[in-house]
Amino acid sequence: MDRFRNTRQPDWDWWGRLWPTPGATIRRLGIGGGDAVVEVGSGNGYFTLPVARITDPAPVYALDLDEELLTELTRLAEMQGIENVEPVHEDARSLSTALPEPVDVVLIANTFHGVADVGSFVREAFEALRPGGRLVVVNWHDRPREETTVAGESRGPPTDLRMTPDETKRAVREGTDFAVAETVDLPPYHYGIVFER
Ligand SMILES: C[S@@+](CC[C@H](N)C(=O)[O-])C[C@H]1O[C@@H](n2cnc3c(N)ncnc32)[C@H](O)[C@@H]1O
Repeated sequence: MDRFRNTRQPDWDWWGRLWPTPGATIRRLGIGGGDAVVEVGSGNGYFTLPVARITDPAPVYALDLDEELLTELTRLAEMQGIENVEPVHEDARSLSTALPEPVDVVLIANTFHGVADVGSFVREAFEALRPGGRLVVVNWHDRPREETTVAGESRGPPTDLRMTPDETKRAVREGTDFAVAETVDLPPYHYGIVFER
């Protein structure tokens, strides 16, 4: 299976400038101690590793199609003494069967814009969650790409793939029973939406 559109892992250099405090971002999204989490499209763990520090000792599954990124994530976790991360080399389209147990949180950051069949992905996320669990979507704001600059360059997905918070809410709620729990602005260019199962 191919990766979703425009979902290559960004370079740490400009990613770190855009997201200087990933742990604080995770906390603002309501992820806390004891939550079992899967990050779908974890890449090399820019968010997964801070999540794991916050939720320890609960498991954090890092699911990605790209085996090299998962190898890098595992190496970084070892270097940082993080023991509760488990890499899952799978396609997001098989999310619900890829995990050994239902989780409290499905996190998808900087990847949702590229999902081709949103309805089917959201149903997978619903199945992967325990009742009362949360789907957390972090998306780029729907602004022209030339306006979202970091370190002097335009960054992020093409303008036509970007979604407003309302479009994201509609896409998630179509065909599932997710309820919107919270919308969080994540300046300068992102927002997060927390949905409850
Ligand atoms: C833009 S990166 C975001 C990485 C991380 N979530 C972050 O925000 O730093 C998107 C990631 O999603 C992964 N990905 C894309 N399509 C996927 C799919 N169908 N199943 C699993 N992972 C996928 C890519 O390999 C990449 O690592």
